Amino acid sequence: MSGHEEFFHKIKYVAELVKNIPDDEEVLIFSHLDADGLTAGSIVFKSLMDIGLSTCIKIIKQLDESVINSLPSNREYIFFVDMGSGQKSLISTINNKKVFIIDHHQPELQELEGEINPHYFGIDGSMEISTSGVAYFLAKEINNKNVKLSQLAIVGALGDMQDRGERGTFIGLNSIIAKEAETAKILRTKLGLRLYGSESRPLIQCLANTMDPYLPGLTGDEGACLKFIKSLGIEPKKIDGSWKTQSDLSSEELRALISGLIKYLISTGLPSKEAEKIVGTIYIFPNEAEDSPLRDAREFSSSINACGRMGKYGLGISICLGDRNQALMELKQVIQEYRRTISRYINWILSNSESIKILSHVQAIHGGTTIDDKLLSPLLSILYTTKLFSRDKPIIGFSSSSGYVKVSARAPLELVNRGINLGLLIKDAAEKFGGIGGGHNIAAGAQIPLGKEEEFLMYLNEIIKREFDHFAPKVDNQEIHAIKRDGEIH
Ligand code: C5P
Ligand code: C5P
Repeated sequence: MSGHEEFFHKIKYVAELVKNIPDDEEVLIFSHLDADGLTAGSIVFKSLMDIGLSTCIKIIKQLDESVINSLPSNREYIFFVDMGSGQKSLISTINNKKVFIIDHHQPELQELEGEINPHYFGIDGSMEISTSGVAYFLAKEINNKNVKLSQLAIVGALGDMQDRGERGTFIGLNSIIAKEAETAKILRTKLGLRLYGSESRPLIQCLANTMDPYLPGLTGDEGACLKFIKSLGIEPKKIDGSWKTQSDLSSEELRALISGLIKYLISTGLPSKEAEKIVGTIYIFPNEAEDSPLRDAREFSSSINACGRMGKYGLGISICLGDRNQALMELKQVIQEYRRTISRYINWILSNSESIKILSHVQAIHGGTTIDDKLLSPLLSILYTTKLFSRDKPIIGFSSSSGYVKVSARAPLELVNRGINLGLLIKDAAEKFGGIGGGHNIAAGAQIPLGKEEEFLMYLNEIIKREFDHFAPKVDNQEIHAIKRDGEIH
């Protein structure tokens, strides 16, 4: 059997286990707070409710001992969604419960009976399918009508940045999900400028709203976007005084906008190959209202991520389960607050160069208590788009939470292709200092005891240096703070 066949065989097997859960049992789902976790949790929640199971969902930052200790005695069936595969030694301490794991992180120990994880079948869970995709295939196996949940699977995959094919297409199992969604008329794709809401919104708003890719200096600032558009020789308004949308641009103006944006992104420090990705596949949900933040799949995804990061878990789940009334109004405020907070953090980093530490093989940002630990992850994901960090070493971020330090780590694809596996490295370093960690080759995270940041960083630097010395950075930075007053690293 091929890897895909074995994967679908396991999906069928676990779907049977799920269908055999007795009706009078109460099920508890734990899922993660990011877009993939909220969408995957919602898919599992909906498919269990639909077969008549009394189900409760809890969104958590992290699966740790406190979660295991708090498991209620009246719920025998526990689902860990977008978590669990990397924490199986912890899960093995659970007694007298039936555990399911729906996940795509790099697993530890042996596969469990109720566990579905693409990595066991040679399928790369960081590129080819996210947890929401795994949950979707399970839901569809439980009931074929669940093909409509492909919308959430796409939102989750985009949240985990899995649009890894040529021009932002999906690869592997994600591309199967996208095809099924297109056939069911849930999804439409086209090539174009990857700006949020580019079909219907004024150009200025599209630029200011776009979070993926993050447009430093433009995202969140309509005034700066207006100046930018004018600087490209584009008149932002129509003759009748209304704002132009992308479709109102002449082909000359559109060309000026594309090349202006690419040049702008390169000027902020992005390699040209990355900057050119501003043109790519746009994913549209035609059944969502034209002016809705849920119509463009990438915007849907960052909206759900915003809910999780701002602690509005219930709102995120409501949206995923189909609430389009009061929830949409509330969502717009949450998105605005999220964007404002992220750009405040970026400005804080830009003006606090002492918070950055550059070692020979890693670079780090110490957020202390200034950066909310729930927001460290999305912040880290966009730091390579600023000039402060170079793409020849991983970025490690720290932020202090109550009782521990939250760690997030990211590496550019170039380093992953050369063999860096952040998930394994961070797990090793976290465990060395009494913490827990894991994740993907490209993005990983951990919790470590307060005060251990420096030792953790030095150790990580050492193991990367020792094991991967052939990845030696092009610029040989000294192991000291090396920031110029204007924020440039040398
Ligand atoms: O827990 P989970 O797998 O869903 O999280 C992966 C995280 O890594 C997401 O927050 C995603 O945005 C981030 N990521 C990233 N850069 C990539 C791939 C994933 O920042 N290239
Ligand atoms: O928290 P952050 O999004 O930066 O984490 C990056 C990846 O590492 C995510 O996929 C997350 O689920 C994973 N992670 C983990 N164990 C931790 C913390 C994060 O597997 N202790």
